[in-house]
Amino acid sequence: MSLFWSIYVGVLITSNIGLAIFLYFYGTRVKIPIEGDGTTGHAWDGGKLRESVRRLPRWWAIMSLASLAVAIGYLVLFPGFGSYKGVLGWTSEQQVAEAREENARKLGELFARYRQYPVDRLSQDHVALQYGDRLFQDNCAACHGTKAEGGYGFPALTVNGDDGDFVVATAMNGRDGVMPPWGAVLGDQGVNEVANYVLRLSGAPHDTARAQAGETRFKETCVACHGADGKGNKALGAPDLTDRSWIYGGELASVTQSIRDGRNGHMPAWKDRLGEDQVRMIAAWLRHNALRDRAQQAAPVAAAAAP
Ligand code: HEC
Ligand code: HEC
Repeated sequence: MSLFWSIYVGVLITSNIGLAIFLYFYGTRVKIPIEGDGTTGHAWDGGKLRESVRRLPRWWAIMSLASLAVAIGYLVLFPGFGSYKGVLGWTSEQQVAEAREENARKLGELFARYRQYPVDRLSQDHVALQYGDRLFQDNCAACHGTKAEGGYGFPALTVNGDDGDFVVATAMNGRDGVMPPWGAVLGDQGVNEVANYVLRLSGAPHDTARAQAGETRFKETCVACHGADGKGNKALGAPDLTDRSWIYGGELASVTQSIRDGRNGHMPAWKDRLGEDQVRMIAAWLRHNALRDRAQQAAPVAAAAAP
């Protein structure tokens, strides 16, 4: 608080409390003119109603004195009087910090028994899965979707979700996806060719001749991150370009834009906000779902293959 506002607040408080104290004592002393019949002489309704004078009830006087004392005591003990910190040195930041510490301690106890198990094991524990689901919905769903299905700019976590260590590492430390822009390097035609090649990688409709030309360029420029087979590099955050799961859309226009202008997805780090215990619960939930989805996808194929 700047000095000006501190003084401003101080003056307001002093004059308010000063006025209250003044009225308190002045009120007991002031003489109200009383007529011979013990009333003020004010009369209504043709004299049927007359205003008499009564002493202030004692409880009322005591209550107001007590509230004055509480107000002054509060201002001495706690922050409130401008930038004066109060003799107790209480701050809301400190109270929040204490509450968080207490919370972390309770959660620590709760999670302690899960610490000894790897994520693979946790993904079979229904209590851990419930924690994971809850934590995911609270912290991750806003970007990655309630079923981790992803959305524009946010990868689906169903694809790599089975890899517990990868999810834990990525979620703990965050990640900045760096897909450099290639427009200036490859030119419009080059971008278009390589975009057609990317479409071919995922089996989407494409122009055969252009895709063919794009393959050479891809081998020169893109393999460092996306791999020779286009299957990506998890550690770099370079997505698999063959799996039909797109972060920024799989139509020619979106793929072209990704390649021409580059992309920079930002995944925040959760180390300090959630910590490893909770992130591991989320990873377990993601793994459980990824494996379940995979089994469901495989099922019809297996059924069709059966004689
Ligand atoms: C503010 C939005 C946002 C939130 C919230 C968020 N993420 Fe992410 N996450 C991203 C983005 C963007 C990426 C892609 C980063 C990149 O391009 O490298 C990503 C990537 C990931 C990846 C890597 C996916 C892959 O296949 O490469 C994992 C795993 C992940 N997030 C897990 C989580 C978890 C767990 C949480 C919750 C604790 C979470 N994220 C919360 C935005 C978010
Ligand atoms: C330096 C490493 C790097 C190089 C080289 C690179 N990429 Fe990428 N690429 C990435 C990363 C990281 C992402 C994810 C960006 C994000 O999540 O925001 C990405 C994303 C993409 C996407 C979007 C995928 C989606 O799911 O929407 C396409 C398409 C793509 N790259 C194609 C290419 C092509 C084609 C080349 C070569 C001309 C190339 N990349 C070269 C790292 C790279």
